Amino acid sequence: MSHKILAVYASALGDHSTSRSLAKHWLSRQAATEVTELDLSLNPVPHLSGEMVSAFFTPEEQKSAAQKELTEYSNNLIEQVKNADTVLIAAPMYNFGSPSTLKAWFDQLARAGVTFTYTENGPEGLIRDTKVVLVTTSGGFYKDSVIDFHEPYIKHFLSFIGIDDVTVIYAEGLNMGDDHKESALTQAKVALEAI
Ligand SMILES: Cc1cc2nc3c(=O)[nH]c(=O)nc-3n(C[C@H](O)[C@H](O)[C@H](O)COP(=O)(O)O)c2cc1C
Repeated sequence: MSHKILAVYASALGDHSTSRSLAKHWLSRQAATEVTELDLSLNPVPHLSGEMVSAFFTPEEQKSAAQKELTEYSNNLIEQVKNADTVLIAAPMYNFGSPSTLKAWFDQLARAGVTFTYTENGPEGLIRDTKVVLVTTSGGFYKDSVIDFHEPYIKHFLSFIGIDDVTVIYAEGLNMGDDHKESALTQAKVALEAI
């Protein structure tokens, strides 16, 4: 059976990233038929520009060559997600929210008429049948706190584009001493192995 995985790493720390190494722990245990990796720090997705936004909103037949190219770039990122059975996202908390590299990627995925639409009942996500495994790391403890603008934001965004099957693995308190870090990592690995 096909199991295609898109693995997205949002930490700036590359091989030294804890969220990435936890995500790799899960990945190494999967019988995936295809794995695509996207390191948002090494290969950052550009921030939205005025040109990009107007390209997205220009009807296909009126787009200039440059606008077609900008739309194509966003389309390709969306296709990567749609093509995956599971998207694995490894993302640390940065300054109470998500890394801006992850936000820039999300901004390219949110496209009216492509990944979401508005109906009389409100917004409706257009991505179907994609699951997400989210590995989130933080130096302190924020789970279920009102100042966690990271995990709730990611879950809400994914739901907005149609992805409601999201399994979250937390490794929290990683900067609260070595003993705590060890136990948080062990617990996160056990939780990852149980997925
Ligand atoms: C720029 C930066 C900002 C951070 N902001 C927070 C924060 O707001 N709250 C927190 O608990 N930890 C914060 N941390 C700590 C990281 O979330 C923590 O070290 C995490 O394990 C990093 O994961 P990574 O190794 O995958 O990058 C921050 C770390 C960095 C580098």
